[in-house]
Amino acid sequence: MNKTLVIHHSKYGSSKAYGEAIAKTLNATAQSFKSLKNKDLKNADTLIYVAGVYISSIRGLKKLNKKLTNTNINTYIVGVGLGPKTTETLEKLKAHNEKALAPHTNPLYYFCGDFDVKTFSFLHRVMMKMLKKMLKNKADITEDEKYLLNAIENPVKQIDTSLTSELTNHIKE
Ligand SMILES: Cc1cc2nc3c(=O)[nH]c(=O)nc-3n(C[C@H](O)[C@H](O)[C@H](O)COP(=O)(O)O)c2cc1C
Repeated sequence: MNKTLVIHHSKYGSSKAYGEAIAKTLNATAQSFKSLKNKDLKNADTLIYVAGVYISSIRGLKKLNKKLTNTNINTYIVGVGLGPKTTETLEKLKAHNEKALAPHTNPLYYFCGDFDVKTFSFLHRVMMKMLKKMLKNKADITEDEKYLLNAIENPVKQIDTSLTSELTNHIKE
C-alpha cells in the first residue's frame, strides 16, 4: 500500500503536463486514463485524476467513478480548462459536475490549460468555426463568450505547472 497514482486524461496535452508535474513532485507514477487497468488500482491508496474540461464536463469522470466502485482510494479530481483561474470558474465547474463529483470528498482543483484551434481534431475545429460564426453575430455577447471568441481567434498558452503546489502541498501535509 501507500502508493500514489496520477492519472491524466488529456486530448491536447494540458492535463498530461499538469499530471506529470504532480507525479514528479509526489514521486508518484503518472499514466494515461486509457492505459489504466483495474490491477493498477489494487495497490494505490491515493489517486489524482487530471482531465480536460469539455463543454463544462470533466472528461471521463463518470467512467473513473465506475472503476473506483468498491475501492477505498483517497481521490483528488483536477479539471483543466480554458477559463480563468477564478472562484467563479471553480464554482461553475463544481455545479455542472455535481453528480459525478458527489463520491469525491476532497476539494476540486482547477488549472488553466492551453487552447489552440490549429492543434484540434477536425471535429473540434468545425465546432469552433461554427461557434465563432455564432458569437460574431450575437448582439448581446457576454464576457465569457468574448473570452472564448478571443481564444478561438488567438491561441492561448497558459499552462503553469507551478500552480500544482496548492494540490501537492495539501497531499504532502
Ligand atoms: C470542444 C471543446 C470544448 C471545450 N469546452 C470547454 C469548457 O466548457 N470550458 C473550459 O474551460 N474549456 C473548454 N475547452 C478547452 C479545454 O478544456 C482546454 O483546451 C484544455 O487545455 C484541454 O485539456 P487537455 O488538452 O488536457 O484535454 C474546450 C475545448 C474544446 C476543444
